[in-house]
Amino acid sequence: MASSWGECLKLSIFGGSHTAAIGAVLDDLPANEAIDMDAVLIQMARRAPGKDRTATTRSEADLPQILSGLLDGKTTGAPLAMVIENTNTRSKDYSLFRSHPRPGHADYTAAVRYGGANDIRGGGHFSGRLTAPLVFAGAVCRQILERRGVVIGAHALQIGKAGDAPFDAAAVDPEELKRLSQVYFAVREARAEAEMRAEIEAARQAADSIGGVIECAVTGVPAGVGSPMFRGVENVFASLLYGIPAVKGVEFGAGFGVSELRGSENNDAFYYDENGTVRTRTNRAGGVLGGITTGMPIVFRVAVKPTPSIGRTQDTVDLAAGRDDTLTVTGRHDPCIVPRAIPVAEAAAAVALTDMMMERGML
Ligand SMILES: Cc1cc2nc3c(=O)[nH]c(=O)nc-3n(C[C@H](O)[C@H](O)[C@H](O)COP(=O)(O)O)c2cc1C
Repeated sequence: MASSWGECLKLSIFGGSHTAAIGAVLDDLPANEAIDMDAVLIQMARRAPGKDRTATTRSEADLPQILSGLLDGKTTGAPLAMVIENTNTRSKDYSLFRSHPRPGHADYTAAVRYGGANDIRGGGHFSGRLTAPLVFAGAVCRQILERRGVVIGAHALQIGKAGDAPFDAAAVDPEELKRLSQVYFAVREARAEAEMRAEIEAARQAADSIGGVIECAVTGVPAGVGSPMFRGVENVFASLLYGIPAVKGVEFGAGFGVSELRGSENNDAFYYDENGTVRTRTNRAGGVLGGITTGMPIVFRVAVKPTPSIGRTQDTVDLAAGRDDTLTVTGRHDPCIVPRAIPVAEAAAAVALTDMMMERGML
């Protein structure tokens, strides 16, 4: 597989849903950076299963064990290696998905790609659980970035028909991002959470699942980060965001909405602010021009598909018998991935930016 990433910062993620452990190795992190493990645990808890706003930030199940790279709470410059033990690996029979691939999941494609050798238990390396090491890496990078004034936060923008208020991309408030980045089920307007929960509950009761959109913003990134053609901000962010299972779309700024605009409507006019810094009055570019940061907030959205494993009986194939068949998936599956994927999108942004700011000698 291809689970190593990065040019300057190097991230490697390993493990499967039911292997002994999952984990990450972060290499070439800046040395002498203080890492607050309590802050890391808050991020891990936001993603962990079965959590809610009332949950403790301590999750035994997703407790990262640091093997190397940290000494007296600071990065040493050596590879930062972390594992999370898989303690909740019930010996459930997943062999059914070998012969009867779940529609919407990776069972079929993984079997083709790896000749049936892939670990199918709990989704193996394709499991959403593999986003825990990514959140760990993001939580470490986020602290290094915050020390340089970079703040990252995201919220559920849409779940089914329920929507939250989008960011004003030209005036994102870092204090709001800080608030969003500490909570489970982050929304900007409180009423949106209730409406979204109702959408999720309706899907769950129908033995179904539902998708949505996450909107993420980053403030404090100086102008001049990113290296086109293929190491631009959009490229690098997207390469990590599409590594998150269930992500089917990524857009920056006005995104696909640009198709409805004229140049006069889409262009962001430049001006000097009171500090003599070049800014733009609007930010339909999402903080990126030519793959390079403008100094305005980076704003992007991520489309998350409905959870593939649903309780309804679905058509599939019996690969062993070579005929059409049906499948009813049992077990516990989130009816909506969006709330748990919010910290994952933030983590992807943190890792991507750390790599790109290192490239520019800013870290
Ligand atoms: C945090 C998180 C949790 C997930 N939980 C589930 C789940 O409970 N059941 C499921 O079928 N898929 C779940 N997924 C999605 C699958 O892993 C994903 O759809 C599958 O690997 C196929 O990849 P693709 O959707 O990117 O094509 C989850 C994804 C994430 C990010």
